[in-house]
Amino acid sequence: MSKHTLRKIALLTSGGDAPGMNACIRAIVLTAYHFGIEVIGYRHGYNGLLQQEYKPLRPADVHNIIQRGGTILHSARCLEFTKDTAAQLAAKNLDSLGIDALLVIGGDGSFKGAEHLARFWNGQLIGLPGTIDNDINGTDATIGYYTAIETALSSIDKVRDTADAFERIFIIEVMGRHAGFIGLSAAVASAADQLVVPELCRDKEEELAHIIAKLDKSRQERGNSSHIIVITENLWHSNAAVLSETLQQRTGLECRPVILGHVQRGGSPVSQDRMLATKMGAYAVEAALDGQTGVMVVEKDHQLNTQPLAVSWEHKKALDPYLVKVQNELFT
Ligand code: F6P
Repeated sequence: MSKHTLRKIALLTSGGDAPGMNACIRAIVLTAYHFGIEVIGYRHGYNGLLQQEYKPLRPADVHNIIQRGGTILHSARCLEFTKDTAAQLAAKNLDSLGIDALLVIGGDGSFKGAEHLARFWNGQLIGLPGTIDNDINGTDATIGYYTAIETALSSIDKVRDTADAFERIFIIEVMGRHAGFIGLSAAVASAADQLVVPELCRDKEEELAHIIAKLDKSRQERGNSSHIIVITENLWHSNAAVLSETLQQRTGLECRPVILGHVQRGGSPVSQDRMLATKMGAYAVEAALDGQTGVMVVEKDHQLNTQPLAVSWEHKKALDPYLVKVQNELFT
């Protein structure tokens, strides 16, 4: 990459925090230091940018954080940032500190914020995909996704023990907002009996009939046994508990809901997230040095690259079709 003059960069973490965000902050700070670039970190996402709440970040500040979940910069959702006045204030604040580039670690909502800011600010904007949901088009994985799968998996394995002891049916709700990536991976890796994700969900009555038919089939084949149904949040009237109750009423069998919730956002990042975050953080600084702007860092087939920010939300990312086939066709 050719090197473009960059004296000072800012970074922030925005939206739902994801394990690996700290590893990414560390990589950005260390790479910037290598090139003699000053770094500041805004706290509380875009809110910090509006309120000039920031701190300098030097290598000593990112020592011993690679293994920590959450984000040392804290995060927030900033609804106000959709207003032009907010983006104008942010541009003014960045200019007053002499910032050449702003690096945003977050999901597509955070990238929309960056795109909005670009209308009012001449500095460079680079996004880094950080969300457990993995719902960002153009990159194979997002920072935090692998850890969230592991966390969901270890909980599902534990539920399986008690489910087995009582030969019960468990409906386990995982996060993902409106995407089934965590659900699909956790279901395959935990040998879940059924999967309900937004991308494949039928009409409610049809889905219910399908779930009951599969349940009947498994009881015919295995007799009474535990039965795990993984479902993504925001489906079934927004709650797995509703599906559990409906299923119990319709089948007369004992069903229990388990909502994994925010536990999936926490914990020490697994090695895949640490490495992805480290590579992406370093690459983002190099992309900024290369003069790029309005882009996000992606990794496809183990190859780092950048793509326009809008690609992340303009096309919906698809689930791995072969994993879907394994879970929903070959194993049923
Ligand atoms: O985007 C990450 C995520 O954890 C989603 O999976 C979930 O729907 C949402 O954030 C929860 O947001 P909040 O923490 O604001 O309730």
